[in-house]
Amino acid sequence: MYIRSISLQNFRNIEKLNMELTDGINIFHGENAQGKTNFLESIYLCAMGRSMRPGKDIRLVSFGEKEGHIRLEAMGENGTDRIDIHLLENGKKGIAVNGLPLKKIGDLFGILYVVIFSPEDLNLVKDGPAQRRRFLDMELCQLSRVYYYDLQQYYRILKQRNHLLKELQRENNQLETLCIWDHQLVEYGKRVIAARRNFVAKLDQLSSRKEKRLTDGVDTLQVVYHANCAEENLQEKLEKNIQRDILLGATQNGPHKDDLIFLVNGLDVKQYGSQGQQRTTALALRLAEVDLIRMEKGVSPILLLDDVLSELDRKRQKCLMESIADLQVIITCTGLEDAIRSHIGRENLFRVSNGVIQREKE
Ligand SMILES: Nc1ncnc2c1ncn2[C@@H]1O[C@H](COP(=O)(O)OP(=O)(O)OP(=O)(O)O)[C@@H](O)[C@H]1O
Ligand SMILES: [Mg+2]
Repeated sequence: MYIRSISLQNFRNIEKLNMELTDGINIFHGENAQGKTNFLESIYLCAMGRSMRPGKDIRLVSFGEKEGHIRLEAMGENGTDRIDIHLLENGKKGIAVNGLPLKKIGDLFGILYVVIFSPEDLNLVKDGPAQRRRFLDMELCQLSRVYYYDLQQYYRILKQRNHLLKELQRENNQLETLCIWDHQLVEYGKRVIAARRNFVAKLDQLSSRKEKRLTDGVDTLQVVYHANCAEENLQEKLEKNIQRDILLGATQNGPHKDDLIFLVNGLDVKQYGSQGQQRTTALALRLAEVDLIRMEKGVSPILLLDDVLSELDRKRQKCLMESIADLQVIITCTGLEDAIRSHIGRENLFRVSNGVIQREKE
């Protein structure tokens, strides 16, 4: 699959853009704060319906403007798909695929597949569990709309349960209602846990292979799913901890407390790994994701590399470039390093300057 063209209007610092991309490597270079990541963000939005930057998507429309637009044309096995996103300054957005407005954002999954690797991926390893759950969820949603809906339901019920727990602190006469919520929470919770377990098992296999290649077999990587609660124990745990939940006014058990652990040579890379090992772990995970999408969906995703080449040593750069040879890749960088130079042609080099993106000849 590849992106054939993209048009932007009033998107972040990009006022207007109409461009075509080649189906191999596309390179966007420019100084800091010129709009490179913004450009990748517009593509990510078309795949996931939201930005890869955490937080609310509130300032996607250019400052001072009321609305913005993204239009992207992707070529896949079954022809062309056109994705249109209409952004409003209040953060609301409308999405249409091939001219038909989507009722739910979840219906966007499965149209355009992207994998992004950015410097923030280090946080995936280093930060708290929320970051890793986000990673799990975004990847799983892309692979399965059913997962997206199950997860949405789970969080909706969790919110209601937590609300009720706080009410129960004041008056203890609604325990029956709590049981109804618990029944539903367990039903969706089990599905979420099962999907995550299944996904992590595959991710573990694929990323350990990538790690081996990236480190010439020196380091081994294991990805372990650290479920807060197994499927079969969820109901029991909720019942057992009900008084504590009421006291705290929040649900203490369930997949909203899950985590992932990355073991490099058997040790938790978050605590014991070097910067380089943490970076390699993040890269191995992203490359594994590419393979997983290929395996599960039979399509090659588009790889977005946001200013990461300069962060990797030569060996890893080489390994990365080799493993993406048959993908459409969109690379941003501030300088044209050697790893990139050999891929520059007439068609695929663009300069980004103050929100203006222009094709450039070497
Ligand atoms: N809604 C918006 N309207 C206008 N400009 C915006 C908006 N949101 C962000 N910007 C601006 O976009 C600029 C470029 O951001 P971007 O993250 O794309 O830079 P970059 O080229 O990736 O830089 P770096 O190399 O530092 O990562 C920033 O200076 C920011 O102030
Ligand atoms: Mg950037």
